[in-house]
Amino acid sequence: MTNSSTDEPAVVASALRVRRGRTEVLHALDVTVERGTITGLLGPSGCGKTTLIRTIVGSQMISGGTVDVLGLPAGSHELRRRVAYTSQSLSIYPDISVRANVTHMAKLLGCGPAHAQHVIELVELSGYADQRVDHLSGGQASRASLACALVGEPELLVLDEPTVGLDPLTRESLWTTFHTLAQAGTTLLISSHVMDEATRCDSVLLMREGQLLAHAPIRELQERTRTPNPEEAFMALISAQEEAA
Ligand SMILES: Nc1ncnc2c1ncn2[C@@H]1O[C@H](COP(=O)(O)OP(=O)(O)OP(=O)(O)O)[C@@H](O)[C@H]1O
Ligand SMILES: [Mg+2]
Repeated sequence: MTNSSTDEPAVVASALRVRRGRTEVLHALDVTVERGTITGLLGPSGCGKTTLIRTIVGSQMISGGTVDVLGLPAGSHELRRRVAYTSQSLSIYPDISVRANVTHMAKLLGCGPAHAQHVIELVELSGYADQRVDHLSGGQASRASLACALVGEPELLVLDEPTVGLDPLTRESLWTTFHTLAQAGTTLLISSHVMDEATRCDSVLLMREGQLLAHAPIRELQERTRTPNPEEAFMALISAQEEAA
């Protein structure tokens, strides 16, 4: 039983402010993530993507505004199983097998071992289930983290740069997995600083220097800015923002 309805957005951040150290890094951000969609969180290094993600998964103190996730305040205990997250650095145990990691996570969340096997198959790691994580390739390790995140069947899956440093084929197959999850009803928020990944998302949140530049399907942003690709659309939006300022 939850006390949130399924037609409200997965995430609503209002006037969100975050300080890290002495500096404010998110400046009165208003962000909405619709359910059952893939939303890309894009912007240059240091613009605040990870900080925003940390507020959504409840691991970042905020200094102003509100963040609601699946109808509850971010970080609520009730969201523990309903929201899953993979961080930018490898967040699973390197010195044990994929299966041991997934089984451990399943135990923490109160799911059985059969479910652990199911998620290992879902991320196509059956052939590597008994391999230590530190003996996997980068793409396989990324899939192992994803398996751990999927084990509680989260409604909202937040992935911080899951495809960084991966070759195009591995990236392609991860995106196929993301689309399979979205078709099954999972809401995905995926950060990247590769602008081309915008074309794989239903809509993109474009950030710059702790502010939201735009939130729309990338095709719409390209039409609006009359640009031929996501990279140029982003540059045009920056110029427009600077002119307006
Ligand atoms: N622990 C910290 N203390 C102080 N400032 C921090 C800390 N962590 C991050 N910052 C600053 O907050 C800002 C936003 O960082 P954040 O990690 O959210 O960026 P990002 O968009 O995820 O970048 P990247 O694409 O490189 O991962 C940066 O200017 C960064 O220097
Ligand atoms: Mg980051």
